[in-house]
Amino acid sequence: MRDVAIIGCGMTKFGELWKKSIRDIFVEAGLKAIDDAGVENIDSMYVGSMTSGLFVEQEHISAIMADYLGIAGIPAVRIESACASGGLALRQGFIEVTSGMNDIVLVGGVEKMTDGADATYALASAADQEYEVYNGITFPGLYAMIARAHMHRYGTTRKQLALVAVKNHKNGASNPNAQFQRETTIDGVINATMVADPLTLMDCSPVSDGAACVILCPLDQAKKYTDTPVKILASCAATDNIALHQRDDVTILKAVKLSGESAFKQAGISPGDIDVAEVHDCFTIAEICAIEDLGFVAKGKGGEFTEKGETALDGKIPINTSGGLKSKGHPVGATGIAQVIEIVEQLRGNAGKRQVKNAKVGLTQNMGGSGASSVVHIFRVV
Ligand code: COA
Repeated sequence: MRDVAIIGCGMTKFGELWKKSIRDIFVEAGLKAIDDAGVENIDSMYVGSMTSGLFVEQEHISAIMADYLGIAGIPAVRIESACASGGLALRQGFIEVTSGMNDIVLVGGVEKMTDGADATYALASAADQEYEVYNGITFPGLYAMIARAHMHRYGTTRKQLALVAVKNHKNGASNPNAQFQRETTIDGVINATMVADPLTLMDCSPVSDGAACVILCPLDQAKKYTDTPVKILASCAATDNIALHQRDDVTILKAVKLSGESAFKQAGISPGDIDVAEVHDCFTIAEICAIEDLGFVAKGKGGEFTEKGETALDGKIPINTSGGLKSKGHPVGATGIAQVIEIVEQLRGNAGKRQVKNAKVGLTQNMGGSGASSVVHIFRVV
């Protein structure tokens, strides 16, 4: 097993990118990453995309992206794990480099969600079609049930949920790549249009277009390309029952817990060693569950922890400094890679107004669906 580093990053702005096609945005992100790394050749590529077929009727996404990036000829593989497609693509790229099979691997994620397809219908394909979707549930509906259970069991309040969105919009306001670069208030969240009780529009991540890419290489070659390689200390994934009704306890995201535990074991560190993290806040309740199930705070205390400001930029463990999915946007296949780019920027000291002081070790957690899959990566600048 070889150590693996990230040596380059590139992403598009997230948002409604109507003037650009899915291939345009992937190529834009890919070329930025190649330029950032300063590599001349790519040996292999992985592309995370949840459902380009439903969103823009384009399958065979790996070959088309290699073609339009001008690197056709290399092996290229599409990875799908719903909203965790990007994170899982990184894990596959990591496996390829660590195993010694290839040296320079481009890993990207992309989704074009605003071109007219019914996003609610397409996103629901990540839930259990026969039991959940057949009975009319949507993704906001699934997370609303998790939120209600969490409020009932642990006393999490409506205000605490809203504070996740307030914090993430504050962070996103200073991220030039974010879809919504504007702040919000507790009342602004609570009084927004109801989507699935208790979650309003402002508790939800939006429907977005975007692409993000990183370049990997063996750590011992990384200094040839950059002064600030970021080492991947751990790359772990896990799964859980897909449908909520099959789970013992819907307030626990078991895949997050399992992927987090294996990642901390692989990295040889504990949650207290993490300086900054990007977690999958597709809905405000998801961030609260994720920080609990990753072990940053005790189960049931995530709401209180958020209310005390411990997840803010100057808190004990800054969470979603990029603005998270909530404010930065959530082009599903791209999200897992964009989370990694935020952590790389933090560890390189390039996060501008969002910079966490002395950030040395960072974590990303990328979730598929309502928690049936999760991928956790841990990084350290070297
Ligand atoms: N956060 C903040 N603002 C949002 C927003 C969001 N999530 N979604 C839309 N907006 C804004 C729009 O910019 C627009 O503002 P404007 O009037 O100033 O232009 C306004 O709210 C209405 O936007 P619109 O596109 O009409 O919203 P919508 O009602 O079609 O969609 C949701 C809103 C919340 C239903 C949709 O974003 C959604 O389904 N989100 C969940 C996505 C999801 O499930 N992802 C997978 C997670 S696992």
